[in-house]
Amino acid sequence: MKSSMLVIIGAALALSAAQAHGAEPADGEEIYASVCRNCHGPTGKGMASFPSLSGNDADYIGTRLTQYRAGETVGPNTPLMSPMAVDLSDEDIANLAAYISTEFQ
Ligand code: HEC
Repeated sequence: MKSSMLVIIGAALALSAAQAHGAEPADGEEIYASVCRNCHGPTGKGMASFPSLSGNDADYIGTRLTQYRAGETVGPNTPLMSPMAVDLSDEDIANLAAYISTEFQ
């Protein structure tokens, strides 16, 4: 009995570790639809001073979001973007990067 409990706990830990490492594009889509779409548009094409997000790989998007979150100045309109990244977790950024890079080619 004791050993089978340990097996179950071990399996649960392995599963949560896998989830922490694998990006979840569906979770990224949820954040995108509620926050990012307002400026970057439903297809990531952007408009006016809101840049297009299409054609970038996940690394690029992830790096940018990490820079905005850290308060670094990236482009001339950084003050519009930084507040959007402040509350993102590492996981949110990975999920958003996975979603944006696959959805907006
Ligand atoms: C209030 C409008 C607004 C919202 C909402 C917004 N952004 Fe932005 N975003 C901008 C602007 C403006 C820039 C360009 C900033 C600059 O000049 O550095 C930008 C830049 C970016 C870039 C860098 C693009 C590049 O080519 O380097 C990424 C990636 C990005 N946003 C992703 C997101 C994500 C993901 C969200 C949702 C969490 C989001 N944005 C929400 C306005 C917005």
